Amino acid sequence: MTNFAVTGAQWGDEGKGKVVDILAKRFDFVVRYQGGHNAGHSVVFQGERFALHVLPSGIFNPKAINLIGNGVVVDPFALIKEIEGLRQRGIEVSPENLRISDRAHMILPYHGIIDRFLDSGIQKIGTTGRGIGPAYEWKAARRGLRFCDTAHLDYFRERVGQELERIQQHYHEIDELRGLDLEGVMSRLEPAIEFLAPHITDSVTLLAKAREQGSSILFEGAQATLLDLDFGTYPYVTSSNSCTVGVCAGAGVPPSTVDEVVGIFKAYSTRVGEGPYPSELHDEIGEAIRKAGFEFGTTTGRPRRCGWLDLVALKYGHHLNGFSTLAMMKLDVLDALPEIRVCHAYELRGEVIDHFPASITDLKEVKPCYTTLPGWELPTTHIRAYDDLPEKAKGYISFIEEKVGCLIGLVSVGPDREQTIIRDKRLQD
Ligand code: IMP
Repeated sequence: MTNFAVTGAQWGDEGKGKVVDILAKRFDFVVRYQGGHNAGHSVVFQGERFALHVLPSGIFNPKAINLIGNGVVVDPFALIKEIEGLRQRGIEVSPENLRISDRAHMILPYHGIIDRFLDSGIQKIGTTGRGIGPAYEWKAARRGLRFCDTAHLDYFRERVGQELERIQQHYHEIDELRGLDLEGVMSRLEPAIEFLAPHITDSVTLLAKAREQGSSILFEGAQATLLDLDFGTYPYVTSSNSCTVGVCAGAGVPPSTVDEVVGIFKAYSTRVGEGPYPSELHDEIGEAIRKAGFEFGTTTGRPRRCGWLDLVALKYGHHLNGFSTLAMMKLDVLDALPEIRVCHAYELRGEVIDHFPASITDLKEVKPCYTTLPGWELPTTHIRAYDDLPEKAKGYISFIEEKVGCLIGLVSVGPDREQTIIRDKRLQD
């Protein structure tokens, strides 16, 4: 069976939810391997819109097993809220179709408090405030608690107590932290632990058996390439490996497991939070794109920064992820524009470069070099076949394919599942 990874090629919010939704039906397993409830995947199921944050998108497919992998950081309260929200809307979530890796780390109440406190000071990242960064920090510092620890409540309780004591001393200036006491924290955590216990699984064995039996697996990325802890616009990144490189460590599978990598990008670009963004628009075109694309965060509701498509960044993403095919989302948002610009290189202190710099200082200084292409100025939302797209829209697509060196196998022309043009047979049902 062919296993797929779906990866964001920009700064997130590319529309991975829609592509995963199109693909998910055919997979036996859907696995989240990094991030946490900072993600917001919009999925339309039976005409209703759902926003998933930490649950894998295969949850709507009654036959799929959904796994929250070891590389995900899980806030038990947020997860329970999401499960209950789905159950109230008639979606079945059970220990049969939702598994949580016993090695996944937990986001505990103090992580969110510390996240929001640190992000209000100097070097503001503009995080989602969900405790993601601190939970990964605890993991790397070997102070985290994992789902396997919840089976040993005395140990779990002792460790939470030690952590509370330590951080209340370390962050003595945070009033909200002083308000946390072990009894209070444990009295909230214990019922949550009991609720989630039947879902906890040895995920390494689960996926090894799945592979032995020839089951198909979809690895669902959250956030995106340019937010990756190692390869993104550091330090304005999330705290996990959100490139495809994260799959092996975050799901516990060998590298040969991933057969196809689908890179998702928007026909333009957006970014939420702080950090460099070379092709950002600060004018009425940026505003028009935000309005037409309804560019407001699924998780936080924040208005997204908008700009032209950046091919230097997209090509960098291709080098890192090795896309088998690209999915271009929201082409229709550009329908009304008389001309469209694409950033094909950067100018850095008088020199033209075509690579994505590592340094934050360089990234803040680069100036985008643009190619201007004619807009098609025709509606595309009703189009279902590639050949029916306006010639100028096809010209835009081929220009990108040529510069990046990868086929655009799917073009999305609207939010609904049907508003999709599939050119690459590997992406067909
Ligand atoms: P954190 O992941 O909450 O630590 O936030 C770090 C950065 O990643 C911030 O700029 C967030 O806006 C951004 N971020 C995190 N999750 C998402 C997402 O799902 N889509 C877009 N940006 C995200």
